[in-house]
Amino acid sequence: MWRTGSIAAAAAIALSAGGAAAQDSIKVGIVMPLTGQLAPVGKQVVAAARIYVQEHGDKVAGKTIELIVKDDAGVPDNSKRLAQELIVNDKVALIGAGITPSAMSIAPLATQAKVATVVMVSGTSVVTERSPYYVRTSFTLGQQSSIIAGWAAKNGSKKVVVVQSDWAPGAEATAVFADTFTKAGGQVIDTIKVPLANPDFAPFLQRARDVGPDSLFVFVPAGQAGTFAKQFIERGLDKSGIKLIGPGDITDDNDLPGMGDAMIGTVTAGLYSTHHSSAKNRSYVAAFKKANDNLRPNFISVGGYDGMHLIYEALKKTDGKVDGDGLVSAMKGMSWESPRGPISIDPETRDIVQNIYIRRVEKVDGELYNVELATFEAVKDPGKAKK
Ligand code: PHB
Repeated sequence: MWRTGSIAAAAAIALSAGGAAAQDSIKVGIVMPLTGQLAPVGKQVVAAARIYVQEHGDKVAGKTIELIVKDDAGVPDNSKRLAQELIVNDKVALIGAGITPSAMSIAPLATQAKVATVVMVSGTSVVTERSPYYVRTSFTLGQQSSIIAGWAAKNGSKKVVVVQSDWAPGAEATAVFADTFTKAGGQVIDTIKVPLANPDFAPFLQRARDVGPDSLFVFVPAGQAGTFAKQFIERGLDKSGIKLIGPGDITDDNDLPGMGDAMIGTVTAGLYSTHHSSAKNRSYVAAFKKANDNLRPNFISVGGYDGMHLIYEALKKTDGKVDGDGLVSAMKGMSWESPRGPISIDPETRDIVQNIYIRRVEKVDGELYNVELATFEAVKDPGKAKK
């Protein structure tokens, strides 16, 4: 009797200890490329997510937030396997996902397990439609490409050559740009696709120059803007009179300080600038640089920072309950001030609505920045607006 009772008591304690531990912490799994071609992307997201936790503390609704970060090297099969492990073994309550191909591969798992998943990177419209548990805090290429197309058409661009990194976000940047630009009376005279992995832009830039456009619309992902700018300048395109335009990726704040003065005057449509003038952004930039060896936060980083904000606020609303349906409905329609400016989650599409800024590269206090010239407020993803 004595022995049995003791074993039963011990088992009960073990159970309740396990139960209490499970209830007291909320695990958030983040699957990002921390090695490979798109490592700069994952590093920005994870650094920003950590800054958010550092600034706001790790307690929400009486629970402790635990980040579990996994490196998928940007390979979708890895992303899927890691997300599966996070759900089944680590029992994460939420996931932070990106880049586009990885988010696509995780979507069926999020749906099946009903795990609220914040898409912290991905610029492709269709991603949020892949799971009802997906909510996006990053951006779409369409948001930026439609705005720069209208701006370029109004500011003298008539014949454009497109240079596009050859994967889903690139295809979308091109399609949306071409649609808006041609409707505004412009012409896309050539579209050149550059491989995503280890791109050598030189031959593509030569071909673009030979076609004789007045402007070059370029999409390369974060991490490749520095290489692009170097080859653009080496080929003498900066002195050719051809205007360089694009979404904010080509003047990535991360790479801009090393690009050289030849980039001054480049105009892009982007969602975030390190130079954005707000108290919120100034303190964000200071905290990010301090924690990351003076690295600038870029447009990718805010997807991670705001993703954590969305998670914290949704958990406050659900009082720490983690069922996916409850969390996603708490996230729908939420609005707040991001370091990039005011943003919200469209309650219909679960997609981000944000300002898109026209910016020009300028030198301020000896450093290159994207200086904002004009603001287009509360821009929705044009891919969804059409439906
Ligand atoms: C994406 O994953 O869709 C993506 C990644 C990096 C970018 C743009 C888009 O710069």
